Amino acid sequence: MERRLGVLSRHLGSHSPPMASGNPSEMLFPSPTAGFHGDSVFANLVQAPEDPILGVTVAYNKDPSPVKVNLGVGAYRTEEGKPLVLNVVRQAEQLLVNDRSRVKEYLPITGLADFNKLSSKLIFGSDSPAIRENRVTTVQCLSGTGSLRVGAEFLAKHYHQRVIYIPHPTWGNHPKVFTLAGLSVKTYRYYDPATRGLNFQGLLEDLGSAPSGAIVLLHACAHNPTGVDPTIEQWEQIRQLMRSKALLPFFDSAYQGFASGSLDADAQPVRLFVADGGELLAAQSYAKNMGLYGERVGALSIVCKSADVAAKVESQLKLVIRPMYSNPPIHGASIVATILKDSELYREWTIELKAMADRIISMRHQLFDALRARGTPGDWTHIIKQIGMFTFTGLNTQQVAFMTQEYHIYMTSDGRISMAGLSSRTVPHLADAIHAAVTRIN
Ligand SMILES: Cc1ncc(COP(=O)(O)O)c(C=O)c1O
Repeated sequence: MERRLGVLSRHLGSHSPPMASGNPSEMLFPSPTAGFHGDSVFANLVQAPEDPILGVTVAYNKDPSPVKVNLGVGAYRTEEGKPLVLNVVRQAEQLLVNDRSRVKEYLPITGLADFNKLSSKLIFGSDSPAIRENRVTTVQCLSGTGSLRVGAEFLAKHYHQRVIYIPHPTWGNHPKVFTLAGLSVKTYRYYDPATRGLNFQGLLEDLGSAPSGAIVLLHACAHNPTGVDPTIEQWEQIRQLMRSKALLPFFDSAYQGFASGSLDADAQPVRLFVADGGELLAAQSYAKNMGLYGERVGALSIVCKSADVAAKVESQLKLVIRPMYSNPPIHGASIVATILKDSELYREWTIELKAMADRIISMRHQLFDALRARGTPGDWTHIIKQIGMFTFTGLNTQQVAFMTQEYHIYMTSDGRISMAGLSSRTVPHLADAIHAAVTRIN
């Protein structure tokens, strides 16, 4: 080591300052205060709080209790509480590895062309007139979050209205993504705590009084965090209202297939809006429905009135993406494209996806039955009525804190639990905790 440093310091030669002690390591690694005085230039930073959702897992990881349960994380777990890599994903990866013709060159700014085409068919339907008429532009982005961000940056730059209405409550990252992209965020009423269902009247009133042309963020299905979705008839009313006021729909589709187990059924609300010939944006994520969380694979589609406009929109999306991350990663998109274009793999995917959705639905029934068996006060039917990965339990912050402290059950402080994090083994423990919380803490 000494000798290598000596060679290095000789090599640096006349450019180096004279050595104070003759010790070369002191010259190369001066003491932290040698070159400047005082604190770090970042010393006045305050410690930022943990992300409210990801922070739950941080706290969970620190808890040594053997009975701890993490219901905060929005990721699927098996009955054994383990993360799941889908069989079709493993098969697709094997095919990719075996294909020696594959290279690791950069993708275009807009991503993998096959992936984009197949993604837009997945959400809009293979017979979509908008796709047939080339009125859709789709760009591969960094999962759902990245797709929302690219869409929001594009709107902030090119759309005449800078206001976006998001449901109250909504996924905690929505307001941050949209605000940082340059949009101004307002909320519309969505959830009614009294019924633990949809506040449809409030929703219609708030969208009805939004300024003409405002952007409206809509969860395509399996609303996070409430698990409450409009019925298809209510969607139709929302569509009519929005189109009559020229409100621009921005669909966030993070759970296609997860809500009902059917990819087509979960895309119905989006397709309803495409069918009227109007324009919209849609952000898709493959994190949940293909279990590709960390691969960061998703897509932003913009449905336009004409092919000519769609081409211009795409050219501008490239200008948003290029300075942001240049071009998207290749691996996750290749997995998705391999599965979507092979009819046998696609079929296997739908079976695995349905199995995940069914396990979540069965957890709902088990938890509901367990609470009923304990005679837990309150109406818990919302647990079986709500849809998708999450149940908005209705437990308050104090009850949540009690359950964490006494039962080592981790969830977000708004009382949201991930049904995907639950198993037949942990249901009784959760039911005991809920029972104790509602009987002891008001
Ligand atoms: C409503 C909603 N939108 C978007 C996302 C984005 O997820 P990702 O960026 O992992 O695809 C999530 C993830 O939890 C979500 O719940």
